[in-house]
Amino acid sequence: MRILKWTAACCLLSILLLDLSGCAWGSGPDVQPVAEPVPKPSAGQPADPAAESQTPERPIVLGFSQLGSESDWRIANTNSIRDAAREAGITLLLENAEQSQEKQFEAIRSFIRKKVDVIAFAPVIQSGWEPILKEAQQAGIPVILSDRAVDVRDTSLYVTFIGSDFYEEGVKAGKYLLDKMRDVPGPIRIAELEGTVGSTPSIDRGQGFRDTIRSRADLEIVSSAPADFTMEKGREVMRAFLKKDGKPPHVLFAHNDDMALGAIEAIEEAGLAPGKDIVVISVDGTRKAFEKMVEGKINCVVECNPLLGPLIMQAAKEIMQGRTLPKRIASPESVFTEEMAAVEVGNRKY
Ligand code: AHR
Repeated sequence: MRILKWTAACCLLSILLLDLSGCAWGSGPDVQPVAEPVPKPSAGQPADPAAESQTPERPIVLGFSQLGSESDWRIANTNSIRDAAREAGITLLLENAEQSQEKQFEAIRSFIRKKVDVIAFAPVIQSGWEPILKEAQQAGIPVILSDRAVDVRDTSLYVTFIGSDFYEEGVKAGKYLLDKMRDVPGPIRIAELEGTVGSTPSIDRGQGFRDTIRSRADLEIVSSAPADFTMEKGREVMRAFLKKDGKPPHVLFAHNDDMALGAIEAIEEAGLAPGKDIVVISVDGTRKAFEKMVEGKINCVVECNPLLGPLIMQAAKEIMQGRTLPKRIASPESVFTEEMAAVEVGNRKY
């Protein structure tokens, strides 16, 4: 049944990709077709790596500012972008900002100086992007947002946003918890490991989760703190949660797998059994998290798909052809529970 679901999700992605290669973007349930005309590529301004020739065969040059390498999800995302660029024959200029918005500004400015055809970036936080996006717009370079959103009033500053629906991921985590606890009397204490402060996944997952569990007044978030999406911080913050008031939480909601894996170590150090004494819910769906689910140490993983490379490359191509793209492209994603982990673990690609 779950394999069928997964296969269906893959098919949906393939259909989306097929749609991308045609004249119009897909408009299935995962794609919101809010289309806007794409800014024309800057005529007569060849990017440095491919200088001079402006023939139709000249490879597209894409500047991509990756926000960092904090998690297994991020590594898979970067690899997907690299592989997809190679397969699409797109020249990729890739910069790692190591969690610094300043470094992302520098990378984007360097792409503007090099006169790349398209700029894409994964914004580390939501705010503060308007000035740099205006610089790109003034240079006539179209921008694709990848993975995370930006908080700007003028949405014409970017062409499209390709990534997951983080709010929905939080809702899925909340629904799993409501179901898991349906026969368990409250009060139920929940600890939450948040991601990077000010980042879209952290804000939206937290909100979706809260909005969903609100239907049960005896579910209470007693501890909540950022752990930067890393395993080390997940371990450290969970240790602090466990020491806090001598009462361990009944539930851990970790905003990503890496933090959940660190927290599992802290729970075991404290002599407790993750997945049993403390229900563990995570987001991403990495192979390592699936292995822990098979061991019964994680109860549920909400999938967040990092394999965005093919969608980004297709978008870059369509932009260069002057086509119209939807403003929002969301990837299809599933929820996996401990019952299905053993069957699914072999299918994980990252
Ligand atoms: O923006 C996506 C999030 O960032 C992933 O859930 C997390 O693992 C990553 O670091």
